[in-house]
Amino acid sequence: MKGIVLAGGAGSRLYPLTQVASKQLQPVYDKPMVYYPLTVLIAAGISQICLISTPHDLPRFQQLLGDGNQWGISIEYREQERPAGIAQAFLIAESFIGNDNVTLILGDNIFLGGDAFPRALSEFRSGASIFAYHVNDPQRYGVVEFDAQGQAISLEEKPTQPRSNFAVPGVYLYDNEVVEMARQLKPSIRGELEITDINKDYLNRGKLRVIRMSRGSVWLDSGTSSSLHDASAYVQTIEKRQGVKLGCPEEAALHRGFMTPQQFVSLVNTMPCCEYRDYLQSISGSQFFG
Ligand code: DAU
Repeated sequence: MKGIVLAGGAGSRLYPLTQVASKQLQPVYDKPMVYYPLTVLIAAGISQICLISTPHDLPRFQQLLGDGNQWGISIEYREQERPAGIAQAFLIAESFIGNDNVTLILGDNIFLGGDAFPRALSEFRSGASIFAYHVNDPQRYGVVEFDAQGQAISLEEKPTQPRSNFAVPGVYLYDNEVVEMARQLKPSIRGELEITDINKDYLNRGKLRVIRMSRGSVWLDSGTSSSLHDASAYVQTIEKRQGVKLGCPEEAALHRGFMTPQQFVSLVNTMPCCEYRDYLQSISGSQFFG
């Protein structure tokens, strides 16, 4: 399974913050936003990753994340000329995907806790797997409706009258057919290649699995000033309470065995003195280091 992080878009809802740095580079408490979705992929065992962003912002992501070698993974970069829709990611990253299955995660979606994604990944064989999360404002999202047996029966993008309270979060697993399906897709009325149309295609073919995320798992989106603030406050609360860090790619890479403990220590030693380094150093005393 390969992974795509989609981190483009205009970021207009965060203006003027996005005048100086793209949305996915804004801080969510103590780390850049993009660290969180990246960590989701790494923690689940995905080590071949492609990041898509605007021509303007891509160099900053490259500066921040490099080629991934420092974490024992690989990160490739592709440009999206203009925000023509989430599903365009499969066309832009076609050469990266090759013949593999692919997970797409949105660069402004924050998932914390819960094992829904790693479990879905290990169970994934073919078709598509997406998630459903109960929210009180479903009209802001893709919405999935279930029948009495719990089977998904409809999907709609930002409906004015949602048929359920189940929003579809921005992490999606697909088999390789998604590339061809994206190629056949027609732009929506708002001129975008819609991810919901891809999901509807899988639903109509009977190849869509929709997994309900449990109440305890956390999905936050950080696309508005208010939700960005909420996400930061949430991360701060958990980190302070538990003395752990969330969305830490180094730690995930170490746990997954992408980095050896020695590589981990060497990397930490290159960091300036700061809380982040202190935290990673504290991990050096854990079971990984005997
Ligand atoms: O957050 C989950 C929701 O994400 C889903 O429930 C919706 O079905 C899905 O359409 C999407 O809705 P949004 O309104 O949040 O999409 P937005 O246009 O804000 O884009 C989400 C992220 O993807 C954002 O970080 C910008 C990036 N993006 C978006 C588009 C359309 C790109 O990089 N390129 C694009 O062309």
